[in-house]
Amino acid sequence: MLLCGTRDLRAGMTVGIPVFRSGSFPGEFLAAGTVLDDGLIAEAQRTGVREAWIMHPATSDLDEAPLAGLNATLQAMARRLHQQFAESSGQRMTATEALETRSEIVSLVCDMMPQRRFIRPIARSMDPKYRIFEHSLNVAMLSLFIGVELEAYIVRERPRLSAAEARDMVSLVFGAVFHDAGKLALSEQVQAHHSVYEVIRASIAPPDYQRHTSLGYDLLRDTGIAASARQVTLNHHQHFDGSGWPNMAPLTNGRHRGPQRGRDIHVFNRIVAVADALDALMIDEAGNPRPAIAAMRDLSDERLEPWFDPIVREVALRRLPVFPIGSLVRTSDGRYGAVVRRNSLQPCRPTVRMLDMDCRHWDIHPTIDQCEVVDLAYRHDLHVVRCAGEHVEHYLFELAQPKPHSGAIEADGPASTLTLAEAG
Ligand SMILES: [Fe+2]
Ligand SMILES: [Fe+2]
Repeated sequence: MLLCGTRDLRAGMTVGIPVFRSGSFPGEFLAAGTVLDDGLIAEAQRTGVREAWIMHPATSDLDEAPLAGLNATLQAMARRLHQQFAESSGQRMTATEALETRSEIVSLVCDMMPQRRFIRPIARSMDPKYRIFEHSLNVAMLSLFIGVELEAYIVRERPRLSAAEARDMVSLVFGAVFHDAGKLALSEQVQAHHSVYEVIRASIAPPDYQRHTSLGYDLLRDTGIAASARQVTLNHHQHFDGSGWPNMAPLTNGRHRGPQRGRDIHVFNRIVAVADALDALMIDEAGNPRPAIAAMRDLSDERLEPWFDPIVREVALRRLPVFPIGSLVRTSDGRYGAVVRRNSLQPCRPTVRMLDMDCRHWDIHPTIDQCEVVDLAYRHDLHVVRCAGEHVEHYLFELAQPKPHSGAIEADGPASTLTLAEAG
């Protein structure tokens, strides 16, 4: 199967996995096996469907990529969380609710782990009331991805725990899901505040907005959830260079002065901070969606470098897929292809299998073995111009050579070694 943007869809293509709509048009829109016609494509475009997985004769080896069930699970969870918080109207979460949510998160983690290679953010619905939850679940998903890549680093950063306890990804994900829960007690205007862009402009987040961290911490007070998960609500805006917030002095009776910095910041917060910024950068200041590559390029901006644990940032930049496997791309020579292999050294230069996208000729389409494969790492005369229907050419970026980071992760093995040439 092949991930196509709605603009790439053509009459005669067959839908590979069900297409869901959210917001004003919730539920399944196109069943698997639906053969598209011009009317369905026009309706998809009109109702905000941004992409669809379609069948293609030379992509059957990519069929595990779609994460269909996972995306549906995440969107259902976003709706359920909204319902839970709307009903409790900002009251503290109870221990029972926390336990139920934790078991949902355990199954989410179990679903995501085997497919994390194909991870990609869930599409934003048009409905603003779900935005916080969609953001939170995206942050959870990105945090899990980064956390798994950095498992050995996490164990090392939590030396007082056994390795089994230290690598507890459920607490990381729980913390990420609720990192912005405190915003629910604030006005919509404050909720919509975009702190990433503000900090890029070197201004300070307004005090009203900053309150969401302590409000979130309070919301989870009586839940009995792990302290490592709860504290994410409080400290996910701490910056590695000490320029973040909140000031810890009033919260610790003066034992710590000012904001946290460096490795004093819990490693879960250092991970959630990167995931949070990435997902925030997938929306512009006016609230319009931006492609993932735009967020990745901004994260690679040196102005953001001081905020983040360099190891976490580096792993996010090199290992999160700029162009997800299975995506339909258009290259600068005007041809189409499917992304079949990532490139951790230069994420914008993946390996692409060239395809004919005219479905009238699919009965004579070359087989997988016969398709030309272009490794863009070695073809500097070519680059990707579109991915899954989005124009990405002006967001392409090059990463500098990986920096050695004080030997912190060299011994972690392939999953978190930064010098990997290729992530596969
Ligand atoms: Fe936040
Ligand atoms: Fe956030």
